[in-house]
Amino acid sequence: MTSSGKIAVTTVLNGDEVLAGHVYRTRSSASFAYDQSYLERPNAFALAPSLGLFAGPQPIFPANPFSDSAPDTWGRKVLMRAAGRTLDEVSLLLGVNDHGRQGATRFWVDGVAVADGEGVPGEHELAEVLRTADQVQRGEKNIPERTIRRLFRATGSLGGARPKANVLRGGDLWLAKFPKPVGDDWNVIAWEAAILDLMAAAGIAVAPHETTMFSVDGEERTVLFVRRFDRRTNGDRIPYMSAMTALEASDGEGGDWVDLVEWARLNGADSAELWRRAVFGVLVGNVDDHLRNHGFLRWNGSWSLSPAFDVNPTPDSEGDAHELALDGETQLALSHFTDPAVLDLFGQKIDPSWLRQLSDALAQAAARASAHGASAFSIAVMEERFNRARDGIKQIL
Ligand SMILES: Nc1ncnc2c1ncn2[C@@H]1O[C@H](COP(=O)(O)OP(=O)(O)O)[C@@H](O)[C@H]1O
Ligand SMILES: [Mg+2]
Repeated sequence: MTSSGKIAVTTVLNGDEVLAGHVYRTRSSASFAYDQSYLERPNAFALAPSLGLFAGPQPIFPANPFSDSAPDTWGRKVLMRAAGRTLDEVSLLLGVNDHGRQGATRFWVDGVAVADGEGVPGEHELAEVLRTADQVQRGEKNIPERTIRRLFRATGSLGGARPKANVLRGGDLWLAKFPKPVGDDWNVIAWEAAILDLMAAAGIAVAPHETTMFSVDGEERTVLFVRRFDRRTNGDRIPYMSAMTALEASDGEGGDWVDLVEWARLNGADSAELWRRAVFGVLVGNVDDHLRNHGFLRWNGSWSLSPAFDVNPTPDSEGDAHELALDGETQLALSHFTDPAVLDLFGQKIDPSWLRQLSDALAQAAARASAHGASAFSIAVMEERFNRARDGIKQIL
């Protein structure tokens, strides 16, 4: 990796990988400039809203428009561990294994896509990857260099804090989400998988997924596999942008449904689907619904909603404080999303047949969690949540 100089940036436009521009790295910062050839292409799109389609250098720090291509909490931990030192933002951006990089934006140094990883691990290596992830999570010293390298190969730019890895399954790129070695109060992974099932049953788009039990040091652990939605079946990359990038927000800034819906509607994404996701999320207590947990894929010249991901139930409580506010309000309940003004914002009417479908889907919660390996305890923790969710729907039908 060069410590200074010109880094080519490519994306996928009309199905072709094309040069979009260059990152110019200086000693202390970096800027990006579109290539004239890209600006002249029909249907050229801005790599991020904060990188307007015009010639000339644009700063990329401190608010990094490429943050979806850079490692997040978990990725940073692994990268710095593999490097054995603290890395600056550009090194982190360029250090991600190219094979697993999110979306279609790629970075090239001297004609080589960086970081030039040695591929992504296969499923047969996953138990070892999980063991190493546990060691990193526990902050263990003396992890062998070889195993850290393998974990690094598996760790792309995928955001989020939960330990995870990219993995090749039958030639396709999947994301594997791991249980934490300590600190989960219930089977979070089984519940996340169950929620994906329930959303599919409620007609909400989710990626293909399944759970598998892995035995690590004699302990059975549930791993959730989700197929990467930013890859076509032939492996081609699909541009991806998180809602955080779309709204030019930064981590920890919160966010608001009002801005998300407005952006989605202006860009032609499906606001009816967004309303269904909001209703689903508020019913199951998906409080960690921040802007990085919503995203868009570029299809046919516009940004559409990506399949839903990272939706997790929480036990029933007196009130749910959501990361994503609705018109400034973070304590949200179903009634907020059935308010006429809010329905108007989403361009929606209450759809009783969908609400019945949703209620039937939620009735399967315990069965789906059990099918993914949740214990009686893990299921009981959520019982009240799903009962109340179905009662809430009944009241408006
Ligand atoms: N099926 C998927 N395909 C492609 N990218 C995904 C997929 N699921 C999640 N991601 C990306 O990976 C990031 C981390 O995944 P997420 O499930 O949110 O993990 P965490 O629980 O650690 O937040 C997401 O923010 C999103 O950018
Ligand atoms: Mg997440």
